[in-house]
Amino acid sequence: MKFFVDTAEVDEIRALNETGMLDGVTTNPSLIAKSGRDFKEAVAEICEVVDGPVSAEVAATDYETMSKEAKVLAKIADNIAVKVPLTVDGLKVCRELRAQGTMVNVTLCFSANQALLAAKAGASFISPFIGRLDDINLEGSDLIADIRTIYDNFDFDTEILAASIRSVNHVSQAALIGADVATVPSSVLWKLYEHPLTDKGLAAFVKDWKSTGQSIL
Ligand code: E4P
Repeated sequence: MKFFVDTAEVDEIRALNETGMLDGVTTNPSLIAKSGRDFKEAVAEICEVVDGPVSAEVAATDYETMSKEAKVLAKIADNIAVKVPLTVDGLKVCRELRAQGTMVNVTLCFSANQALLAAKAGASFISPFIGRLDDINLEGSDLIADIRTIYDNFDFDTEILAASIRSVNHVSQAALIGADVATVPSSVLWKLYEHPLTDKGLAAFVKDWKSTGQSIL
């Protein structure tokens, strides 16, 4: 499973990129607002840091304006994935961009039927939002599982990008179900490394090694 980081903070992206574990980045209008950065400038900088897909979302909701915005975003860099909402107009823009060879991430997916429509529109990525479904007492991971089954039934090559991930358990659930990608806040990505038994075991090994008085170098 690929890891994308869900942020517009370039410093966070650089630090994660240095681990060699980062496969891409997703942004959205809320994350851009939080960063306080100029949208196109921030996205261009992120595209220079990361080799993989960088999602940049259109702001309009009507076909004409979304289509124009998408063309501007697609020109920022070769690794841009234009993010469009899962609406009739959004999927029209998706189809158009895919015909031009631009990657498209269809966002705000909350049902299996919506994911089916996105795949039929040729989406590169579908973003089902796990956390926001859990927030309203539904099981977000069930949606990922349903989409996995549907895409496998018809050999769709749209990648399932598990989004709205809030915890390390969401990451392992997405991986167990077979999501192709998880987009994860940087705080959660760093937590994936952690386990108290790793810390405890390492402390014991360091102590016992010291007691041998030996040196490897
Ligand atoms: C990513 O593409 C989504 O915009 C993001 O994961 C949404 O996460 P949230 O529900 O925590 O805002």
